[in-house]
Amino acid sequence: MIRRIEPGQVRLGMYVRGFGGSFFSHPFWRTRFKLTSQTDVDILRNCAVPYIEIDEALGCGLIEHDEAPSPAIISPAAPPPPAPAVARRTAVRRVRTRPPEAPVSPEQARAERTVTRGKVVVQALFDSARLGQAVPVAEAMSLVAEMDDLFARGEHKLLDVIRMKTADEYTYLHSVAVCALMLKLARQLGMAESEARECGLAGLLHDVGKMRVPADVLHKRGALTDAEYLQVQAHAEEGFAMLSMVPDLPEAAMTVARLHHEKIDGTGYPLQLSGEAIPLVARMGAICDVYDALTSNRAYKQAWTPAKALAAMAGWDGHFDGPLLEAFAASVGIALPHAPVEPA
Ligand SMILES: [Fe+2]
Repeated sequence: MIRRIEPGQVRLGMYVRGFGGSFFSHPFWRTRFKLTSQTDVDILRNCAVPYIEIDEALGCGLIEHDEAPSPAIISPAAPPPPAPAVARRTAVRRVRTRPPEAPVSPEQARAERTVTRGKVVVQALFDSARLGQAVPVAEAMSLVAEMDDLFARGEHKLLDVIRMKTADEYTYLHSVAVCALMLKLARQLGMAESEARECGLAGLLHDVGKMRVPADVLHKRGALTDAEYLQVQAHAEEGFAMLSMVPDLPEAAMTVARLHHEKIDGTGYPLQLSGEAIPLVARMGAICDVYDALTSNRAYKQAWTPAKALAAMAGWDGHFDGPLLEAFAASVGIALPHAPVEPA
């Protein structure tokens, strides 16, 4: 029998088969599983979903009001739910964009903490992908929500902190940056919270397929051979395939992983889609991806200013969706020039 229960009624042994509310209302990347850990029970009891669907044929049923709960199952002294597990990595340098002794505002400190956490989350994501393990999406979703909450409170230092990343930090913080920029653009376009956060999650995961590209090719200095270029291009389909294995992941994440290198004139890859045949979220991803690459320090070039990057992008005919690029410029507080300049 399928039954809808409140989060507070969840107990060990129940079989969960779905959640009410959006994908972001709960931290689980699966929606069908048996509750075998008290930690998961505690997390579920405290999450923001309006209801949980259980299948009583596959697990325990609801304890009715007149049935005393087993103290072994529901303990009033149960500890508070722990934070969702994150794969811990050693030697994660705190992201900081100021001298250590400089005074720091609470907003700046929050932005630095969030970006540092983002670096850890993306490292864990990429390590899992590299090892062929399941991508830990729950922690990624939680990070997206944290970033969106900062923006919703009017705190925008996050973008400045991310933009100041060093060349060494680019691998991980580029994904955090694309996530943040996708959130900003989605809000600029008037998207609701759940849709905006799906765009942010898609930005965070857009390059996960690169973990399947041989490292010597991915980090090669100098020109790639034709064969190596094809290996790099394959990251789009690789990412799509990897994310397709994650149950219940929003479609946007697969779409952006696969199509963020398509161009509006049909000369991109992997499918050579053009115009509005490229889904909106993928056209958004293309803009956020290139903008962050141009405005970041890399081993071989200095970062461009936001204005210079946007002026250059506006001049690349056939690459981006023009009206969307204007919306993006507005989302980062810059007006596009009427006469685009050539890239340096
Ligand atoms: Fe990419």
